[in-house]
Amino acid sequence: MRLSISSCTFILFTLLFSLIIQENHARKINNIMEVENSDEEVHHHNQIEPELNVFFVPNDLKIGKIMPIYFSKKDLSTTPKFLPKEESEKLPFTPKELPLLLDFFTIPKDSPQAKAMKYTLDQCNFEPMEGETKFCATSLESLFDFANSMFGSNSNFKFLTTKHVTESTIPLQNYTIAKVNKISVPNAFGCHPMPYPFAVFYCHTQKGDANLYELVLEGENGEVIEAAGICHMDTSKWDADHVAFRVLDTRPGKSPVCHFFPPDNLVLVPTS
Ligand SMILES: *[C@@H]1O[C@H](CO)[C@@H](O)[C@H](O)[C@H]1NC(C)=O
Repeated sequence: MRLSISSCTFILFTLLFSLIIQENHARKINNIMEVENSDEEVHHHNQIEPELNVFFVPNDLKIGKIMPIYFSKKDLSTTPKFLPKEESEKLPFTPKELPLLLDFFTIPKDSPQAKAMKYTLDQCNFEPMEGETKFCATSLESLFDFANSMFGSNSNFKFLTTKHVTESTIPLQNYTIAKVNKISVPNAFGCHPMPYPFAVFYCHTQKGDANLYELVLEGENGEVIEAAGICHMDTSKWDADHVAFRVLDTRPGKSPVCHFFPPDNLVLVPTS
């Protein structure tokens, strides 16, 4: 089995993941960012990296609003596949067992892949923060088990994702909001793919973040995207250095922070 992520993808991945998902794990984010910055000069003062064009405020969600948005153009066919639950659960999943796992997957120690696996194991083994429920799904069955535990067994749910309706050619461009549908459900949760030799999703939900949106966006080149977005209404406990505040020119507690989900993320929403 091969881990198909390049160092560059990993850096981009951790950048996006840490910025979007781990809002309150601020100290850890900063450590990751420092590593990235020493690797690649991605930061320039007073300039927003293209990938950071994913943040907005609730007020932006008006039909006709035009804004630049970045949607990754990742080839989903090359992403790792889920293992059956019986297989994935035979393998340990803690940072302590990393040497054994590297050996098992024949991944060289100190490689970007090893670093990525350590990152995933660390993220998945951190305690949830206050008000957060989190879970790393190492199989599709375990993802469904988590959904059942959140929504009640035998309840119905749907997946909300960001999808390119037309073929996508450029990751960053101006989009016009054509449709906005607000979904207010208390226990929806977002799942983010983690770098690992097989599919692992980091799923979590934060109390009070019940404002989900389904949007239709029209690119200025005619491309259409059905996008999923979320608004975090209470940012008062976020780290003041969180990049969303720089992008939106605001500060903790002063404004909600919203973001679009990248196309490879899943949002699970109860329907009954
Ligand atoms: C979006 O439109 C604005 C105003 O026309 C322009 O200044 C900006 O460069 C455009 N952004 C992108 C990414 O095309």
